[in-house]
Amino acid sequence: MISSKFVATFALGSIALLTFGAAPATAQSHVNSPDPLLGAPSVNTEESHIGTLTGHAEEGKHLYRRYCIGCHGPDGDGNGMNAQWIDPKPRDFTEATFKCRSTPTGTLPTDQDLYNAITRGFINTNMPSWKPLTEQQRADLVAFIKTWSPRWAKEKPGDVLVIPAEPPVTIESILHGRELFQKLECWKCHGPAGHGDGPSAATLTDSKDNPIRPYNFSTGTRFKCGATNQDIYRIFMTGVDGTPMPSFHDTLTGNDPWDLVHFLRTLQISYPSKELDLWQGYVASHGKDIKPIGPDSAAGAQ
Ligand code: HEC
Ligand code: HEC
Repeated sequence: MISSKFVATFALGSIALLTFGAAPATAQSHVNSPDPLLGAPSVNTEESHIGTLTGHAEEGKHLYRRYCIGCHGPDGDGNGMNAQWIDPKPRDFTEATFKCRSTPTGTLPTDQDLYNAITRGFINTNMPSWKPLTEQQRADLVAFIKTWSPRWAKEKPGDVLVIPAEPPVTIESILHGRELFQKLECWKCHGPAGHGDGPSAATLTDSKDNPIRPYNFSTGTRFKCGATNQDIYRIFMTGVDGTPMPSFHDTLTGNDPWDLVHFLRTLQISYPSKELDLWQGYVASHGKDIKPIGPDSAAGAQ
């Protein structure tokens, strides 16, 4: 019994060794010769530009091996040792699909977008904030991340979304935003009260077929891609790529996006804001006139 177990373990071990031995051969498909420890090109000339900083991939590679490899993996595909325990899964950099962009859906993010994401971390996930690293180190990491996909050599990042000045927060703006939330069916995923529990919520999956939950506004936490009103504006105008969260850039015009931002703030019932104050005052005096959001609602009727 014991010996057969040993044989099985030993056999598995040999397979693992064989697989490991074959890894550098697979990595030959990269433009440059493979790094023995990391399935990345051994010569990394990719750069990043963050303000006045220039990041260098070669430096970023050492930092990656030290801080990122356990989750994002030796091949940059998100299959690090710890990935099996993590939900949502670490990003697969070989696909070059990113959630937090200032650029249109489907396009590459800017270096600044990646830098911001690394600095901020992903709240409510295992991706920490890397603010303790120096700015130069974070810029170097951005450069290195771009070596994992050939898209970075072939494509340019999309045009950065222009965000117009925010109009004043008024009850009219909030009410119009509320109509848009109904009409554009945000509630189907995010739920009528923004609790992340709409009728479609339970069935949603990301581009890797892993289940994904819509953001729950009532928790009052910041968003994965920022915290300010400008950040919310950017999130639904560019979409969260790799997830069912669409881009509404082609649907919303004029002040529509700002009206929607103002309404979304009222869903954050545990996050104090002037939008929430104004709304709660309005509900206190007009509660009976407010139509509920949802399938049978006339809230979206113009
Ligand atoms: C403990 C695990 C863990 C470690 C360590 C880790 N990450 Fe992540 N990272 C994640 C997870 C999980 C996500 C995906 C979060 C999501 O999709 O909501 C992610 C996402 C990202 C993204 C995607 C940004 C976007 O807009 O989509 C980048 C870039 C990134 N990580 C860079 C890094 C870098 C650089 C390091 C090392 C300095 C690092 N990560 C270390 C878990 C980790
Ligand atoms: C088909 C389902 C679906 C619809 C429709 C939808 N969302 Fe989302 N939304 C999601 C999912 C899923 C996420 C979570 C993405 C993640 O965590 O990576 C999300 C996340 C968000 C976030 C937070 C992103 C962050 O950075 O954490 C905001 C804000 C948001 N949605 C606003 C909206 C608005 C406004 C609308 C309507 C105009 C809308 N959503 C419609 C599925 C949807």
